[in-house]
Amino acid sequence: MKNYIKPSEWNIVEEGFDPHLNKISESLFSIGNGRMGQRANFEEAYTGDTLQGNYVAGVYYPDKTRVGWWKNGYPDYFAKVLNAANWIGIDIKADGETLDLNTAKVRDFKRVLNMKAGYLERSFTAELQSGKVLRVISKRFCSIADDELAAIRYEVVAQNFSGTLTITTAIDGDVKNQDSNYDEKFWEEVSKGFQAETAYITLRTKKTNFEVCTATNTQIQLNNKAVGAKAAPIEKEKYIASAIELPVEAGDTVTIYKYAANVSSQNYDKAALQGAATAAIARAVEAGFDALFEAQVAAWANKWEEGDILIEGDVAAQQAIRFNIFQLNQTYTGKDARLNIGPKGFTGEKYGGSTYWDTEAYCIPFYLATAPQEVAKNLLVYRHNQLQKAIENAEKLGFKDGAALYPMVTMNGEECHNEWEITFEEIHRNGAIAFAIYNYIRYTGDASYLASHGLEVLIGIARFWKQRVNWSAEKNKFVILGVTGPNEYENNINNNWYTNKLAAWCMRYAKEAAELVKAEDASRYEAILKQVNFNTQEFEDWTSIADQMYYPYDEKAGVFLQQDGYMDKEQMLVSELPAADRPLNQKWSWDRILRSCFIKQADVLQGMYFFEDEFDTETLERNFKFYESRTVHESSLSPCVHSILAARLSDEEKAYEFYLRTARLDLDDYNNDTEDGLHITSMAGTWMSIVEGFAGMKVRDNKLQFNPFLPSQWQSFSFNIGFRGTQLKIKISSAELSITNNSSETVAVSVFNETFDIAQGEKKISLKALSL
Ligand code: BGC
Repeated sequence: MKNYIKPSEWNIVEEGFDPHLNKISESLFSIGNGRMGQRANFEEAYTGDTLQGNYVAGVYYPDKTRVGWWKNGYPDYFAKVLNAANWIGIDIKADGETLDLNTAKVRDFKRVLNMKAGYLERSFTAELQSGKVLRVISKRFCSIADDELAAIRYEVVAQNFSGTLTITTAIDGDVKNQDSNYDEKFWEEVSKGFQAETAYITLRTKKTNFEVCTATNTQIQLNNKAVGAKAAPIEKEKYIASAIELPVEAGDTVTIYKYAANVSSQNYDKAALQGAATAAIARAVEAGFDALFEAQVAAWANKWEEGDILIEGDVAAQQAIRFNIFQLNQTYTGKDARLNIGPKGFTGEKYGGSTYWDTEAYCIPFYLATAPQEVAKNLLVYRHNQLQKAIENAEKLGFKDGAALYPMVTMNGEECHNEWEITFEEIHRNGAIAFAIYNYIRYTGDASYLASHGLEVLIGIARFWKQRVNWSAEKNKFVILGVTGPNEYENNINNNWYTNKLAAWCMRYAKEAAELVKAEDASRYEAILKQVNFNTQEFEDWTSIADQMYYPYDEKAGVFLQQDGYMDKEQMLVSELPAADRPLNQKWSWDRILRSCFIKQADVLQGMYFFEDEFDTETLERNFKFYESRTVHESSLSPCVHSILAARLSDEEKAYEFYLRTARLDLDDYNNDTEDGLHITSMAGTWMSIVEGFAGMKVRDNKLQFNPFLPSQWQSFSFNIGFRGTQLKIKISSAELSITNNSSETVAVSVFNETFDIAQGEKKISLKALSL
C-alpha cells in the first residue's frame, strides 16, 4: 500500500519525483476520451523505468496464443489492446545535453490530474549534469469534445544559461507491447510525411489490418512571439519528427504547442485516413489551444452535472469517488456500439482493452444512471452485434441450433481466452449478459429494446442453457456439471449455485420477453421466431428445466451451497488465515487454493445481489455471514457486492469497510499492481457501493426507491443521476434526504416504502420520521 497522493477534492496530486513510483503514477494520471487514451508518460526523453502506453479504442492485435498443453476448442490468439504510436514526444536538448529526469537533479516536481476539467499538468525544475537549469510546465488533454484530437502546451524556461535549445517533436510508431507473446512488433508502416507543417504517419496492424493515422502540428513561441525559423524534418522507419534549434538567453520562455490527431480505419476508408487526420489537425490549429481547452472544460462540466458524487466531511473519500467516475468516463463515452470497457481501459496492457462480464455485471448500472440512455444501450447493442459470433463460439464447443455462448474475453465477438477452466467453464458470463438486458429495461422502461435487439440474444442464451444442463436420475433434477463460478478459486465443479440460478432465470426471462414482444408487436415477434428458426416447444422445455433445476443447499447452515461438495472441504475462516499467507494467489500453490474453502470473490452473494427481492432478510443474513467470513476478495470486483449487501442488512460499519477496499484501490496501490494499469471495471463497483449501497437506490415497479443511511465518517453525500428523462440530485444527511428535480416532469420516488411526488425544485424528506 502507498500513500503518496495528496488529498484534494478535484485533483490527483503527486509532489516530488520518486522514480520508483513512476509507473504507478503513469497509470494513475492516465488521460483518455473514449476514443483514445494514454498513460501519463513524459513528453521529454526518459531513460528510467516506464511503461509506455498509447491506445486507440477498438484497434487490437491477435497475438498468437502461448499455452503449455493445447486443448481442442482453444482460440488460437489472445486479442491485445495495442500500444500505438506515441504522439507526445517533445525532446529538449540544452547545448546538446538531453533533458532526462532520470539523469537530472529534479526539484519542485508536481503532477496534477485535474478531474474537473479533464487535463494533466506537470511542472518541475531540472538541473542537468552541466549545471544548466530548466523549468518546465506541461499541460495536456485528450479532447472529450472532439475525440479525434489531443493537445499539449509545453513551456520551458532556460533559467540560468544562454545557449541553444534543440526541440524535437516526434510521432514514434516504432513501439511494442510489453506483453507481446513472441516479442514481436505489431505495427508496420503504410506511409508518412509532412503536409505543410503537419507531420503524419499511417501504421497498419499486422494480421488485423487496422490502419491508424496519427498527425501532429507543432507551433513554437519564444517569449510569446511565434518563432519564424523552419524546423528540419527527420524521418526513420515508423518515425517522423521535426527539430528546431533556438538560441535563448537566460530567463527566456519557449512555449511549444503540439496538436495531435488519431483516426482509424474503423471510422474512415483507408484512402481517406490521412486527409481525415490532417483535417482534424487543421480544426485544432484554427481553434487554438485555449479554445480547445475551453471546450474540454465545458464537456467535463456536463459529465459532472450528469454523474458527480459529492461527499462532505471526508476529502480522501471525495477524491477517490471522483477519480473512479473520472476514469470510467475517460474510458467509455457510449458513442460507438463497437467499443466496450476493458478492465484496464486505456491505462495498461494487462487484461487488454478486451470485454469481460465485468461490463454487464458492474459497469451497466453506472452508465445507466449517469449518462444518456444511449450509452448503456450501446453496451447492450455491442453484444447483440456479436450474437452470430457467440453462436459460432458455442458450435465450436459442440452446441447447436442457435445456442449462443458469449466469450469470456473478446474484442470482436470471438473468444480469445485460453485457460480451459475459464474459457469453457466460466459460462455464467452468459447469464450476466441476459441480466444486463433486464437491468436496462428495469431502469429505463425501454421495453422496446426486446423487440429491436434483446429477444434474439435472450433466445440464443436460453438455448445454450437448455443444452448445457443434464438430467440427473439420481437427483431427479436438472444439473449443470463442470463449471467455474465467479469464484475462480474452484474449477470444474458441479452445480455452482450462482450458475444454476442464473441459468434457470435466463430461461424464464427469455420466455417472458418473448411473450412481451408478442403482446406488443405480433408481427415483429413472428419475424424474430422465423429468423431464429424457433419451435415453440422450446418455451415449454425452458420452463420445465427452470422448474426442475437443482440448487445445492446446506440444511444445517441454512445456506445455498456454492457448489456440490463444498462442505466436504475443511471449513476455515479468513480470520484464521495468517497475514503472511495473503494474498493467497501469491502465497499458496494453486493446488492448495483449489482444495481450500476460500472464495476469491462474491459468488453465491453475487446471485443474491442480482435477485435480492427473492430472499427475505434472514436468508440474506445467514448467507452473507457464512460467505463473507470465507471470502478473500482477491478480485477487485468483490468488495462492492459485499458492501451493498451489508448495507441491505443495515450493517453500516461493514458496508463502509468494504467500500473503503474498493474506493482507493488504485490511488493507494492496495494490491501492488497499479503500475500495470487501473482497475477500471471495479471502479463502477465503487460507485455502486455508494448509490446502491449507502443510498439503497433501486428501481422497483418503474419507480426509484431509496433506503439510505449516512456513513458516520461523512457529514453528507449527494449524487446526480438521470432517470427516465429527469435529472435528479439526491442528497443524504443524517436526518434528511433531499431530492432536487432539475426537470419539469414530476417523478414519483419511494423512500423507505413511502412514495413522494417530486415536482421541479427541491423536496426535503425527513428520514427520522420515515425510518421509525
Ligand atoms: C476476475 C473476473 C474478472 C476479471 C477481469 C478476474 O480476476 O476473477 O471475474 O472478469 O478479473 O476483471
